[in-house]
Amino acid sequence: MNEVLQAIRKRRSVRKFTGEAVPESTLRAVLDAGRWAPSGLNNQPWKFVVITDQTTRAAVAAKTKYRKVLEQAPLQIAIFLDQILSYDRTKDVQGIGACMQNMLLAAHSLGLGTVWMGEILNRREEVEGLLAVPESFELMGVIAVGHPFRKPADSERRALEELIFKRY
Ligand SMILES: Cc1cc2nc3c(=O)[nH]c(=O)nc-3n(C[C@H](O)[C@H](O)[C@H](O)COP(=O)(O)O)c2cc1C
Repeated sequence: MNEVLQAIRKRRSVRKFTGEAVPESTLRAVLDAGRWAPSGLNNQPWKFVVITDQTTRAAVAAKTKYRKVLEQAPLQIAIFLDQILSYDRTKDVQGIGACMQNMLLAAHSLGLGTVWMGEILNRREEVEGLLAVPESFELMGVIAVGHPFRKPADSERRALEELIFKRY
């Protein structure tokens, strides 16, 4: 397996982190991986809010039932769809997904752990208010980033045979 395939296969959600801060250069490498994601018409509809400040991290964490996971991550990245840049909602959301996955894989390749927080979208507007983003920003998810406390448990996937519906 080459490095890309290995990262795709070996990345696992990490839900327990050491308190160690994420270096600025690593943060920038992760954001840059998101920046290079594909998007429809190359419209790059994403915007990021980087949260390392303890008070803000705790306030964001309090907006999800996964508070315990989120609050101990030294870094949170909130990813938004900027409606001003949007041209096709489905394609924009797909692009944001690619952007977020790029960040997960980049962080993994740099020895960091991540978990994609979707449940927090139940209180999307509250998080948008808390982070004081412009009206045009719609929260798409929050990624918790940090040094893994321990090796995460392996995960499972359906067999490829179940997924290939047909071949012509
Ligand atoms: C759109 C999306 C939303 C998710 N939301 C949450 C979440 O709110 N809380 C959480 O602990 N994990 C969340 N996850 C992580 C999934 O639970 C995890 O990716 C899945 O169980 C597979 O495990 P793995 O990432 O270790 O392979 C989310 C993942 C995705 C892609």
